[in-house]
Amino acid sequence: MIDRIISPISTENDEPKEVEIDNNLRPKDFSSYIGQDRLKKNLQLSIKAAKKRNEPLDHVLLYGPPGLGKTTMANVIANEMTAQIRITSGPAIERSGDLASLLTNLSDGDILFIDEIHRINRNVEEVLYSAMEDFKLDIMLGKGPSARSLRLDLPKFTIIGATTRTGSLSAPLRDRFGIIHRLEFYTPLEIEQIIKRAASILNVKIDDLAAIELAKRSRLTPRISNRILKRVRDYAEVHGQGIITLNISDDALKLLDIDELGLDTADRMLLSAIINNYNGGPVGLDTLAALTSEENTTIEDFFEPYLMQIGLLERTPRGRKATAKAYSHLGIKRNMSVNDDNQAKLV
Ligand SMILES: Nc1ncnc2c1ncn2[C@@H]1O[C@H](COP(=O)(O)OP(=O)(O)OP(=O)(O)O)[C@@H](O)[C@H]1O
Ligand SMILES: [Mg+2]
Repeated sequence: MIDRIISPISTENDEPKEVEIDNNLRPKDFSSYIGQDRLKKNLQLSIKAAKKRNEPLDHVLLYGPPGLGKTTMANVIANEMTAQIRITSGPAIERSGDLASLLTNLSDGDILFIDEIHRINRNVEEVLYSAMEDFKLDIMLGKGPSARSLRLDLPKFTIIGATTRTGSLSAPLRDRFGIIHRLEFYTPLEIEQIIKRAASILNVKIDDLAAIELAKRSRLTPRISNRILKRVRDYAEVHGQGIITLNISDDALKLLDIDELGLDTADRMLLSAIINNYNGGPVGLDTLAALTSEENTTIEDFFEPYLMQIGLLERTPRGRKATAKAYSHLGIKRNMSVNDDNQAKLV
């Protein structure tokens, strides 16, 4: 995928300085973590109860589109539990031996954060089952007829798993999480608060109207609002007095090619491909990927959740469809004769 400013995925070539800024912007506790109120309420309760019983927190699974604050929340939980957190990812745990060494090095009460947990290896996953359930590790020693299995006691730890897709998680693994939560897109008002908080940490002045405008164009995603804020700050320093005004933010967003709904060229290309080549759809995922030269997973994880959230795209059993709102956003007139379902919607 091309390097897009509005990509919610943190890229490996983000500069070290950027990574440091991101760490400063990351809320450390529930009070500075804006939004996701239902999730926070539930977690606060579970944390209080676990502390009262002097037990580790139940295993937690956080899922939802990228950039909404799963990693941030894992760190907040660790902080609130005053627990030590170790961070790894599904693809990094290649063999069951890797998992064994991770788990045996934990202490009571520690948190093991496994990002992209849906990408964990099947045989590693099976070892994880008994570890999560009974805090026991079953390992095989030796091979062939002389092989023996050994059961080790593990410290009482908590796994926090994060994934952009629960659908790819096996049912037995999902069942071992006591607390499962979906992170929702933020409201424009919450994003506005996140922008103001970030601006004050970055020490940049921003007008209320500018904050509202940036919030509208940030795909309801904090990682994107942070990234846009940093670019607009650069623009304000070069073309203004360092203060982010509505004019400055409008000009900067024009330069970044981000429109009023937060879409960039790639989003508009995807929608117009459905409209122009397939008369609004339905179009299958593979066809859409071929039309736009994007990966299937990029379309499913990144493009679709937001386009569906704001009502430009519909997912039907027969494929993806552009909505009436998508036509009007792109300024394309609808050919009323063919698309019956869409037509019915208009009436
Ligand atoms: N509730 C929030 N309030 C303020 N800032 C937030 C909040 N949630 C996330 N952020 C900011 O957004 C950035 C991205 O969040 P985070 O890395 O936690 O997302 P993620 O869901 O783990 O994404 P991915 O799926 O790509 O791993 C963080 O650097 C943080 O600064
Ligand atoms: Mg993350």
